[in-house]
Amino acid sequence: MRVTLFGASGLLGRELVPVLAGTELTALSLEDADLRDAGRIREVVSQSQPDLIILAAAYTDVDGCESNRDLALSVNCEGAVHVALAARQGGARLMFLSTDYVFDGSKGAPYETGDPRNPISVYGESKARAEARLLEILPEVCIVRTSWLFGHGGKCFPATILNLAARLEIRVVNDQRGSPTYTRDLARTLAELCRKQARGIVHVTNAGNCTWYEFAKEIVAHAGLAAEVKPVATAEFPRPARRPAYSVLSPASLHAYGIQMPDWKDALARYLAEVRIPGKSLENTGT
Ligand SMILES: NC(=O)c1ccc[n+]([C@@H]2O[C@H](COP(=O)([O-])OP(=O)(O)OC[C@H]3O[C@@H](n4cnc5c(N)ncnc54)[C@H](OP(=O)(O)O)[C@@H]3O)[C@@H](O)[C@H]2O)c1
Repeated sequence: MRVTLFGASGLLGRELVPVLAGTELTALSLEDADLRDAGRIREVVSQSQPDLIILAAAYTDVDGCESNRDLALSVNCEGAVHVALAARQGGARLMFLSTDYVFDGSKGAPYETGDPRNPISVYGESKARAEARLLEILPEVCIVRTSWLFGHGGKCFPATILNLAARLEIRVVNDQRGSPTYTRDLARTLAELCRKQARGIVHVTNAGNCTWYEFAKEIVAHAGLAAEVKPVATAEFPRPARRPAYSVLSPASLHAYGIQMPDWKDALARYLAEVRIPGKSLENTGT
């Protein structure tokens, strides 16, 4: 099986590479092929002749997208279209990574795959548009929506909280609810969905949900840090992009493939077991 992976250097891509080790893998980052360059995308796809393309590359700076709308749309939507057209031309299947931010967050109950998209940020809009275009171009496409990624080798929320560990107090928003997702669990599940030749929209997150405040509390408690985590409202932390207040994704579409994801707290514990906790090694060695 030949697989071409776009976004191999990203947070998720780094976990996908080892999971795909048993395939004939072409792993690409921005410097290998810019999604905005239709000719280059056609070229790399025709050279690698994949059976399957995984599109994990994106412009993921949610706040940056607000001030760089053209860039967001050209990478996340037009870029995805370039990949879908190349996949269609080469007869390859396509798996596309999308986001909970295609929803506005007003539902107040887990989002099902068929719920209407109504993004409230440019990033969400760029992904929502891409989803619609891809379903037109390649009706067999598999669109995986995920959320709140954390993992090794890049910026993520737990790493940020650990970096703030020396503070006495960490203030975190308590009015946005979603499902944290460990890139290692996600990568394994994506590979399984590929094996099962999944198609249509599938929601893949770790099980359970929390607010960012609850997430931070769990990180601090599990890491044994002294910092106090204080809940605050989003209004106290104005950011360029609006975020959905509630973006929990229903796992029904994943369960339909007979796949269960571990709980986010279990995933966080496994992640923390592999990262250096500031101050911990000193305490442990008594030095
Ligand atoms: N992070 C989250 O919380 C989250 C939540 C929901 C959905 N998602 C989606 O999940 C996927 C993976 O996210 P991630 O967090 O792993 O992303 P990431 O860490 O930001 O990595 C992005 C990847 O895309 C590549 N890239 C950026 N611009 C590109 C361009 N113009 N052409 C080609 N490649 C480009 C980057 O290459 P370089 O390293 O060379 O720059 C990198 O490999 C994305 O589709 C994202 O939208 C992420």
